[in-house]
Order: sequence, then structure tokens, then C-alpha cells
Amino acid sequence: MSFKFIDLFAGIGGFRTGFEKSGGSCVFSSEIDPHAQEMYTLNYNDKLFSDITKVDEKEIPNHDVLLAGFPCQPFSIAGEKKGFNDTRGTLFFDIERILKEKRPKAIVLENVKHFKSHDKGKTLKVVLTALQELGYTTNWQVLNAKDFGVPQNRERTIIIGALNGVEFDFSKLERKEVPSIKDILEEENESFEYLEKSEYTLIENPKRQPSGLIFAGYRNKNMRTKGVRENTEHLSRIHKQPNRIYSTEGTHPTLSSQESAGRYYIYHQGRVRKLTIRECFRLMGFPNDFKFIGSKGKLYNRIGNSIVIPMVEEIAKEVKIQILESSSLIQKPVRVMKQSSLFDFGDGFSEQLVG
Ligand SMILES: C[S@@+](CC[C@H](N)C(=O)[O-])C[C@H]1O[C@@H](n2cnc3c(N)ncnc32)[C@H](O)[C@@H]1O
Repeated sequence: MSFKFIDLFAGIGGFRTGFEKSGGSCVFSSEIDPHAQEMYTLNYNDKLFSDITKVDEKEIPNHDVLLAGFPCQPFSIAGEKKGFNDTRGTLFFDIERILKEKRPKAIVLENVKHFKSHDKGKTLKVVLTALQELGYTTNWQVLNAKDFGVPQNRERTIIIGALNGVEFDFSKLERKEVPSIKDILEEENESFEYLEKSEYTLIENPKRQPSGLIFAGYRNKNMRTKGVRENTEHLSRIHKQPNRIYSTEGTHPTLSSQESAGRYYIYHQGRVRKLTIRECFRLMGFPNDFKFIGSKGKLYNRIGNSIVIPMVEEIAKEVKIQILESSSLIQKPVRVMKQSSLFDFGDGFSEQLVG
């Protein structure tokens, strides 16, 4: 079965590659960043629309699935009043007006892990309520890229909506064995940036953390001092993220859109070096023939903002089976979720919400 989708906040097309693999064809893309646009055109040979807020929803082609890894913005009066007006002035409002006009059968939205607890859960509540008011049955879950065959510990909130009453079953997504960083490394080449031995300290008996990370050592830079006890240098949290060194026997921490210097250090076969740009793309599941241009700083931003392709592929496969090919055409009455279930998120908001 073939289907059409639109790629909003398209970045470098992580969503697009994943959905194309399931037989989808992209009929509209929007991305405001000139470097991301350049990379997108280079790889997909397609033209993009820029600022989505300037696009008339009536001009967007009909489609079956709307995809959006939208930037998170607080809805100031969210949760107090319900309804369309609450989201005005935010980029989610642009998603709503497109859904209202085009009525795609399915929606897939992506955001950072802590989207679920942003503004004490109000942001998620407003999004789910708005989608339900438009007739979509919604479900959401935090998924981790490492469960989909890439060695990166990267958790993301995924919201899936269906117009035909289907409640997306996340348990059907096929999970894979967790690989290690060493599985995605390039052959030794002249671009490898090794550290001198005097620039780092290795710790004794590194241990695998539940996340799969193995903290192997640290660069000899300033350590945190506030509230730090003596003889705790072996603990990863004592060292700022860009100074940490991870063993290639484990997984890699989240690649961040904020880390324009690409300070991702690995310990492999007795030496410490930075990951290469190609290795960072591989940690996001991008194929080896994915082309890149522009400064390293911009490339690290693009990579950290993107979505892990093998995870998208699995979502696309199940959206097709569970929603697009489903015989259920009866629209369920709008489901109003109880406040208590929406606010029971269980963890604090510690990650910065960007992109
Ligand atoms: C989290 S990233 C999504 C990246 C994408 N999923 C990928 O695989 O690369 C959000 C993107 O939204 C873009 N963006 C922000 N405001 C926008 C707007 N008004 N119109 C179109 N794109 C916008 C940003 O430039 C950024 O690339």
C-alpha cells in the first residue's frame, strides 16, 4: 500500500527517510533553517517551504500522514482553558490548523523526553486535548533509540493520533538487541582526532550503567566542585558532559543540538578520540550515502536536532499496519482523559526543551 505524507519541521529529513522506507511518498516539506534546507535538498532533491507560519493550509496537498518533530514552546494559558485558542502563537497551532483543514488519517509527533513533564504536564495535556477535539484518538510513549538497533541512549516522546478510532499500540513496535558504539565506527582514517595521554584520565573498572553507557574516563579539564565529595572522580556526574569519555563497548549518550563543538569522546582499543561526523550520523541511523555539507558546528546542530531513523522506520511500519491499513473506519467519540492520569508523570523536568 502506498500513502502520502507531509514532513513539517523537516530538519535533515530523518522522518522522511523512515516513512519512505514503508512506501510513503512525501508531498510537502517545511523547514526554516537555511543549512537544514540545503542538506535536505542535497539528499532528497526536493524543494522545501520555509516558515510554516507563512504557509496557507489550503495550499498544502492532501496527505494520509502528518509528521512533525516540532519545537517545544510553553502554552501560557494552557490547562486553564481548553481549546484551539490556547495554542495560538505557538508552532503547534500551525499543526492544528493543517489538521483541521486536511484531516490526514494519522499524525506522528516527536519531541524531547521531558515534553511529557514540561510545565507540570500541561503542555502535553493541551496537545492531546487539541488533537482529541479534532477527532483524533491519541496515544503517546517515551521511546529510546537504543531499543531500535542504534547504540545511542536517546529518549523521545512520541505522540501518535488516528482519525479512525484506532489507539496506536506501542507494544507492537519490534525492539532489537542493544548494539555497542564499536559497531558503528569508521575504519581508521586521517580525520580521527586523538587525544594525547596527558589530556585524559581513565578510571579503573568501568561499570555498565542501566542505560548501557560505560563511563571510561574524563578529559583533564575543570571538574565540578560544588557539593562534590573527595575521591568521587570516578563518577560520571562529577564531570561535565563534554569532558566525559565513554567506552565503545557500551552505548553513547544523547547527541545534543546544543553541542556545536562535537565534544563526543570515546575510548576504543586503548586510545581516546572524538567521534567523526560520519560516526555521529551513524549514531542517528543515517545511511552511509547520506550527504553532508557546511561547517562542523552546523552539522552537529543538525545531527542533534534530528530523529533516529531505525526508530522512525519501525513507527512507520506500524502506523501503516495499525492505522492506514486498518478496517476500523468508525470514528470513536472524543475521549476526554481524566486530569489525574494526565498529570501522573512521575519525574522532574531537568532537560532543556529545545528543538
Ligand atoms: C527538532 S527539529 C526536527 C528535525 C527533524 N525531525 C530531523 O529529522 O532532522 C525542529 C526543526 O524545526 C525547524 N523550525 C523551527 N521553526 C520553524 C518554522 N516556523 N517553520 C519551519 N520550520 C521550523 C527548526 O529549524 C528545526 O530544524
